[in-house]
Amino acid sequence: MELREVIGRRRSIRFLLPYKPVEPEKIQRMLEAARIASHWGNVQSLRAVVVFKDSASEEVRNALLAPIAGFQIRLAPVVIVWYVETSAVDEQSDRLRELLKAGALGFGEGKEKALEEQIIPIFESIREQFKEPGLNEVDCGQGIAQATLMAFEQGLGTCCLGTPHGEQIRQNLGLPETARVLLLQTVGYPAESPDAGGQRPRQPFERLFHMNGFGKAFPRSQEVVDELKADEMLQAPAPTEWREEELEYLKKALDVKGHGLI
Ligand SMILES: Cc1cc2nc3c(=O)[nH]c(=O)nc-3n(C[C@H](O)[C@H](O)[C@H](O)COP(=O)(O)O)c2cc1C
Repeated sequence: MELREVIGRRRSIRFLLPYKPVEPEKIQRMLEAARIASHWGNVQSLRAVVVFKDSASEEVRNALLAPIAGFQIRLAPVVIVWYVETSAVDEQSDRLRELLKAGALGFGEGKEKALEEQIIPIFESIREQFKEPGLNEVDCGQGIAQATLMAFEQGLGTCCLGTPHGEQIRQNLGLPETARVLLLQTVGYPAESPDAGGQRPRQPFERLFHMNGFGKAFPRSQEVVDELKADEMLQAPAPTEWREEELEYLKKALDVKGHGLI
């Protein structure tokens, strides 16, 4: 499948087949994709604990707390706990040195000296600030996005779940104090149709993006829109005509109680 189509077809899949385990190699490919994502200063603060329902201890399974749509956790054969390891920032100078050696940063004579005497001292002076939510989270998001697309490419469904219980999850899983839990990502084989009800609603393009200053909408070319539709990146918006019936079916088949929001 072409990249544009992959981007267009990906959906959050809330209904997974609980009985079908996920091959560890497929999860590994997701993690490999996350690992090579771009990171500021190549800090690489994205980390994860992968919980396989079949083999994890009850204690670990019970540590996965997400109040919104928690039924998804019950259904998922795999839950990835993505977290940011803030202490990665402590090794930042070494990461910059690696980049320099790799030819990915700077050029010519004197670059080592400039890095040591000019660049690194700047980063060192604001090191603690870099541990606060910000750039690291952006990096982690990029990594998780790549893992998500890799999951999709392998026929898996995923859904990110935010949780206010990050600190409790951190403690329950025995993660270091320097770790900050970002989200739980459920992974498994989709029980939904591949469409999952159609492409989800988004804010108007013009409302989101500006050109040469705030308030002047970025001009959206219809020609480009048509091209992306032809490439299946922009698809029919949700809901498909039969979505409610599909949801009703999934609810019964997977024994999801109530309205599916909690
Ligand atoms: C960072 C993040 C956190 C999310 N948290 C939740 C959540 O707590 N519960 C939930 O049901 N869905 C959650 N979602 C899924 C979104 O609701 C979903 O992405 C959105 O409805 C758009 O659908 P799409 O991903 O299929 O385009 C989250 C998604 C992201 C990216």
